[in-house]
Amino acid sequence: MNLVQMSNYFLLFFLLIISCTTTFTHSKSTLKPEEPCEHMVLYFHNILSNGTDISNATSAKVTNGSALGSFFGMMVVFDDPMTKDGHLNSPPVAKAQGFYFWNNKDASNAWLAYTLVFNSTEYKGTLNIMGANPVVEKTRDLSVVGGTGDFFMTRGIVTLRTEEIQGNIYFRLRMDVKLYEC
Ligand SMILES: *[C@@H]1O[C@H](CO)[C@@H](O)[C@H](O)[C@H]1NC(C)=O
Ligand SMILES: *[C@@H]1O[C@H](CO)[C@@H](O)[C@H](O)[C@H]1NC(C)=O
Ligand SMILES: *[C@@H]1O[C@H](CO)[C@@H](O)[C@H](O)[C@H]1NC(C)=O
Ligand SMILES: *[C@@H]1O[C@H](CO)[C@@H](O)[C@H](O)[C@H]1NC(C)=O
Repeated sequence: MNLVQMSNYFLLFFLLIISCTTTFTHSKSTLKPEEPCEHMVLYFHNILSNGTDISNATSAKVTNGSALGSFFGMMVVFDDPMTKDGHLNSPPVAKAQGFYFWNNKDASNAWLAYTLVFNSTEYKGTLNIMGANPVVEKTRDLSVVGGTGDFFMTRGIVTLRTEEIQGNIYFRLRMDVKLYEC
C-alpha cells in the first residue's frame, strides 16, 4: 500500500466515523422525556350510565361483549369533564370526547382514543390522544398525535394513572399531558 492509498483509506475511515457520529446524535434527538415544553395535569372523570341516570352520566356502553369474552368488543362512548383537581364537581376546564373499547384477549386493555377540547380563556383548541391502555398497569403512556388552535401541530405523551374506581359506575384518572413540540 503506497502513501496515497493509505491516506485515502484514512480519509474513508474518518468520513465513516463522522457519518456514524452524526447519525447517532441525530437519532438520539433533542427531545428528552423528562423535559417537555409544556406539562399540565388534568383529572378525567367518567360516569357510566346505568340506563336511568341520564342527567349525571357522561358515558354510555354502545356495544356488548362478544364470543371472545364478555368484555371483548364492548365499546363505551364518552363526553367527560376534565378538572384541574381531583373533584368531580370542580369547574371543568376541558372536555374529553371519544371512546374506548375492550380488546382484552390476553391482557386487560381498554383501547382509548379521544380529543381534549379546550374552550376557556386559558386555552382554545384541541389535543388528539390515542393508544393502548392496559388498565391493570400503574401508569399508561398514550400518544398525543396532534393538536389545533393553541396546540397547533403539537405532539407529546399523556401518562394515565387510575386514581379511583367505583364499581361499574365511576372512575377517575390522573392525566399528565406532556408536550414536546409547542
Ligand atoms: C341508576 O343510578 C341512579 C343514580 O345512582 C339510581 O337512582 C338508579 O336506581 C340506578 N338504576 C339502575 C337500573 O340501576
Ligand atoms: C347528580 O349529580 C349531582 C351533583 O353533581 C348530585 O347532587 C346528584 O345526587 C346526582 N344525582 C344522581 C342521581 O346521582
Ligand atoms: C347487550 O346485551 C343486553 C342483554 O343481552 C341487551 O339487552 C342489549 O340490548 C345489548 N346491547 C347492545 C348495544 O347490543
Ligand atoms: C366556546 O365558548 C364560546 C364562549 O362561551 C362559545 O360562544 C362557543 O360556542 C364555544 N365553542 C365551542 C366549540 O364550544
